[in-house]
Amino acid sequence: MIVAGNWKMNKTNQQAKLFANTLIQRLAGMKLRIVLCPPFVCLSDLAEVLRETNLCLGAQNCHYEKAGAFTGEISPVMLKEIGVEYVIVGHSERRHIFGETDEFINKKVKAILDNGMTPILCVGETKEEREKGLTFCVVESQLRQGLFGLTRDQIERIVIAYEPVWAIGTGIVAKPWQAQEVHGFIRKLLKALYDENLSKKVPILYGGSIKPDNFFGLMAQPDIDGGLVGGASLDEQFVELAKILSWFV
Ligand code: PGA
Repeated sequence: MIVAGNWKMNKTNQQAKLFANTLIQRLAGMKLRIVLCPPFVCLSDLAEVLRETNLCLGAQNCHYEKAGAFTGEISPVMLKEIGVEYVIVGHSERRHIFGETDEFINKKVKAILDNGMTPILCVGETKEEREKGLTFCVVESQLRQGLFGLTRDQIERIVIAYEPVWAIGTGIVAKPWQAQEVHGFIRKLLKALYDENLSKKVPILYGGSIKPDNFFGLMAQPDIDGGLVGGASLDEQFVELAKILSWFV
């Protein structure tokens, strides 16, 4: 079970350190995988703050090249060196606001794995796509392309996050059965692409308007292995979410 907080473009370095210290105290001893994904400029300091705690560090993005003329980008080598363990990739905000394609995302997934970190590959349909009945089709295509060319060993080291775009930051959370339907589909797809054993090893997180009052129902679903949380990861609610998830461990 994993709970990852995607802070997006929120919190300055000072605020991040303060909040991380509070979380360390409040979440001490919990047997969950708890991942904090702050903005890039906070990673280095948070790596120090989180050292020897049960909280891990994640980044929200990275480039696929090791180094070079890519103004404004951060490479996986840089992230690895400061102690980043997870990298969110293919988030819908990156796909839709910054125009990232599946091919670009696939290169990043490979680069993250090659540098010994775990990609959290996000997939999910827009409201329009859902209304047209295209949910499974979109999710399958994003997954097939995002995972293209990965070896079995690499698949064992990835995390998938199903994040319906219509649920992200909208307050409209997927109903537990709606999320389970897609999670079950993803599990079946992994089984078809690889095998049943492998399909069970890949954690599939749900993301989109998770709050303490809707989290339990989602996490009680058989194919939901945790949450990727935006807004509710920025304050005390994150502690509540971790507590709820720890009932399932
Ligand atoms: P939200 O964001 O929890 O604020 O909806 C989730 C995400 O974008 O990962």
